[in-house]
Order: sequence, then C-alpha cells, then structure tokens
Amino acid sequence: MAERSASGLFLTFEGGDGSGKSTQARLLTDWLTAQGRSVLHTREPGGTDLGLELRDIVLHRRGHIAERAEALLYAADRAHNIATVVRPALERGDVVIQDRYLDSSVAYQGAGRVLDPAEVRDLSLWATGGLLPHLTILLDLDARTGRERLAAARTRYDRLEDEQQEFHERVRAGYLALAAAEPDRFLVLDATLPVEELAERIRRRVSTVAELASTESTESPGATPPVGGGA
Ligand code: TYD
Repeated sequence: MAERSASGLFLTFEGGDGSGKSTQARLLTDWLTAQGRSVLHTREPGGTDLGLELRDIVLHRRGHIAERAEALLYAADRAHNIATVVRPALERGDVVIQDRYLDSSVAYQGAGRVLDPAEVRDLSLWATGGLLPHLTILLDLDARTGRERLAAARTRYDRLEDEQQEFHERVRAGYLALAAAEPDRFLVLDATLPVEELAERIRRRVSTVAELASTESTESPGATPPVGGGA
C-alpha cells in the first residue's frame, strides 16, 4: 500500500543520465531555502554511508551482477535512505528533494533490464513502507542527446551509463509510461529547454503542490507554510 508523507513535502527528480536533474535539484533547493523552508537534498543511490558503499558496488563493481541482485541492491540503498534520512526529515516538516527514487528502479531495472515493472515497484514500496513522493519531476530527454551530454562531461562511465543506446531508449519509454499512468504525481518537462525556464516551471508546480499538501495536513500545529507566495 502506498502513502504520502503526512507533514513534510517529498519531491523527486527523475530522468535519464545527462538530463540535468542535479542542476535543477540544486536550483530548487536554493529557491526553497531562500524562502525560509528547511530543505534536505539527498540522492539515490548513495544518500547515506551505507548507501555510498552500495553505490560503489552497484555502479562500479567489476564483473556481472545478476539483474535481480542489482534490483535488490538499489532497494536496499532506498530502504536505508528512506528510514534513516527521508522519513525523519518529513516528520520534522522539511522539504525533501531527492535525485532519483523508485521510478528509477522501475525504468532502469524494469524497462531497461526487463524485469517485471510491477514487481520492481512493489519491491521498492515494500523497502520504503510504501512512501510515494508528492511530486516527481521527470526531465525527459532522448537517449542520444543524453549520451552526447554525458560524453562531454565524463572520462569514465558507470555500469548503467555504459549500457547500449537501446537500453537507454527503453528507460526513457519506461519513464514516460510511468508518468502517463500517474499524471497527478508527475510533471514531465522537455530537458532541452533552457535551464532557467525549466527552473521556473518547476517552481510553479512546486508552489501548487505545496499549497495542496498544506491544506491536506491542515490545522495541524506547526504545519509549515505554503511555498512560493507571489514568487
Ligand atoms: P546517478 O547518481 O543519477 O548518476 P550520476 O551521479 O552518475 O549522474 O545514478 C546512478 C545510476 O544508477 C544511473 O545510471 C541510474 C541508475 N539507477 C538505477 O538503475 N536504478 C535505481 O533505482 C537508481 C536509483 C539508479
């Protein structure tokens, strides 16, 4: 069973490699912080000490990792990050901005590795006690452009980045199918738009979502104020 956090705001960024998630997550973090919100910026894999060890294994270990083992490694990282970092922050009423979450597993291990997407999603929901984001921003980019951006920025690829173009095309299609299935949770943006325009569209949607979330958790003492009044 899936649930949303009762008090804080949980926002996730998704997209293929090279889609600009980290830049937008940083800009959104700065904007919310400037408004006086307490913001935690985290990522998967590798949002915790244990997660950093798991990240090293899942991205850089030499040799084959079985597909289900890979899915479990990401799920283990996620379980620990949500239990020890994200849930405590949401319970404090913070905004959590996270690079990648369960949709990454459904897109990469499901559509990419061709595991059953429903099983991969259920595994993540089990790992996290059913936590879903209030909003997921999908930065959509065709696989070829993503590759070109990465090639310009990298000297070495990790295990997933190193996959063939068809893999990354399946990942992209997987993401778009997820967004189509949950249009209320997803904001899909064309990642080739200028950085500042993307940031502005994201801010607008976050303001709306924050307002909704604050009315839902109404009248609870200490509820955090809505975001973005007039900004
Ligand atoms: P990321 O940290 O976004 O990569 P980078 O810092 O190199 O931009 O993610 C690392 C890789 O892990 C990325 O190729 C996507 C992959 N991944 C999955 O396959 N499944 C998952 O559940 C997650 C969270 C990431």
